[in-house]
Amino acid sequence: MIQSDLDLFGPQPQRLASQTVLLPGFAVPEVEALLDALRPVLRAAPFRHMRTPGGLHMAVALTNCGSLGWVSDEKGYRYSPTDPVSGQPWPALPPILLDLAGRAATTAGFDGFVPDACLVNHYLPGTRLSLHQDRDEADFGQPIVSISLGLPAVFLFGGLQRSDRPRHIPLGHGDVLVWGGEDRLRFHGVLPIKPGVHPRLGERRINLTLRKAG
Ligand code: SIN
Ligand code: FE2
Repeated sequence: MIQSDLDLFGPQPQRLASQTVLLPGFAVPEVEALLDALRPVLRAAPFRHMRTPGGLHMAVALTNCGSLGWVSDEKGYRYSPTDPVSGQPWPALPPILLDLAGRAATTAGFDGFVPDACLVNHYLPGTRLSLHQDRDEADFGQPIVSISLGLPAVFLFGGLQRSDRPRHIPLGHGDVLVWGGEDRLRFHGVLPIKPGVHPRLGERRINLTLRKAG
């Protein structure tokens, strides 16, 4: 049958906006190697709930690897070369993440992407991430590469104004989303994660966003 022949090629990249590409399952072949690379990162820099400038704790637990890491506290949001919990530099970016992010970016049309920061977000069922722009990086000419693992999520993909009604994009285990260029400052977020147990990651979703922060 023609349909099953087509299935052999796997899901194809989907252009969601002029400079936004969803690569369904792009990270699937790499998941075990990715998890192996993440384990020492999480030992050195465990997930934590950072404080917002308003004094609340973020619902998402996060950590970083790379020469810069995204931090939030009462002074605001910024990138820092050191982990405020340990006082040490963030763990290095694992080569496999650097390689995967570069290949995903190239596939999406952004050549030469070399990230220096990877924000690792941890969601439990019920955790959400409210609409925001990624604007703490130095160069908005560089894209964002997002890798999703574990429980499925609904990604909110909005416009350049907070008030623009966001589209709902399902993101599953191994999906990679790349946005840059004129889409780089689109508002985005994540709806509350639905209860569930992922066969590999259990009751959690992990999202890695690779950025060129400095
Ligand atoms: C983020 O915007 O930093 C994370 C997005 C996601 O978890 O999919
Ligand atoms: Fe973001």
